[in-house]
Amino acid sequence: MPVSQQSNKTVLTHPLGASAEVHFFGATLTSWKVASEERIFLSEKAVLDGSKAIRGGIPLVFPVFGKGKAPHVTASLPQHGFARISRWRLVNSSEDAHTVTAQFGLDHNMISEEHRKMWPFDFSLVYTVKLGAETIETHLKIQNTGDQAFDFNTLLHTYFLIPDESKVRVIGLSGVDYTDKVQQKTSRQEGEVVVRGEVDSVYANVQTADIQIQYGGEDGGVQLHRNGVNDIVVWNPWTEKAAGMADFGDEEYHRMICVEAGQVAEFIALAAGGSWEGSQVLSLL
Ligand code: BG6
Repeated sequence: MPVSQQSNKTVLTHPLGASAEVHFFGATLTSWKVASEERIFLSEKAVLDGSKAIRGGIPLVFPVFGKGKAPHVTASLPQHGFARISRWRLVNSSEDAHTVTAQFGLDHNMISEEHRKMWPFDFSLVYTVKLGAETIETHLKIQNTGDQAFDFNTLLHTYFLIPDESKVRVIGLSGVDYTDKVQQKTSRQEGEVVVRGEVDSVYANVQTADIQIQYGGEDGGVQLHRNGVNDIVVWNPWTEKAAGMADFGDEEYHRMICVEAGQVAEFIALAAGGSWEGSQVLSLL
């Protein structure tokens, strides 16, 4: 079966061997394998019972990034919004000669009463995961189904599984201005991004469509191609932050880097009846 549903997740299987798993909780993609090799980081301590956001995979950030307060909304939403802590449903699946596709949906009727109070807008999210032989596309469509405008941020918060944080290089951000949330300052990136300590940087309006996560040496990597999303966040918690997270192993920061494509530098206003779409395509280098 190219798309099979289990109680807590959907599994996509490509005839040429690739596979992916998407949990209904948060529509969090927790695995992408090509040639039996896992490409996505999922913490060994990740909580998968729906009681907190999944630590790893591709959590979906919506409608706020971080502790951000959305404009015109008085209540404080949960960190990174409610999409990653709501239960989505599989709305469609299909296959053609090259790809296996699963589509997940979330709307205002499906979120908790508490979240509806905090976010009193009618919306619909459709998340499409398209698995190719050696690629995976994740596409998010956000619709304002109500009669009031709202503002949102969103991110495909991808945790890449990497062999060694000391060798990884993120290419494609040179010359871009970014907010360094660790140093609390704004800088311009010069050359590639490397991990030598805690990294938490928000790159706004990145022009290059293709970002490369190179593992170092002969080890290859992953290319992240963006459509319709302007910003990139790079995150590695390093030692202290790692130790402070109950759902993340103390040494796991060696094996992951988050390179997150989305719209977070500024809120996007979505008029009543309006829609927004953005996606990323991951492929092997
Ligand atoms: C990143 C943020 O996107 O997500 C970081 O830039 C944050 O500041 C990280 O620490 C993880 O967030 P959370 O809520 O999943 O612990």
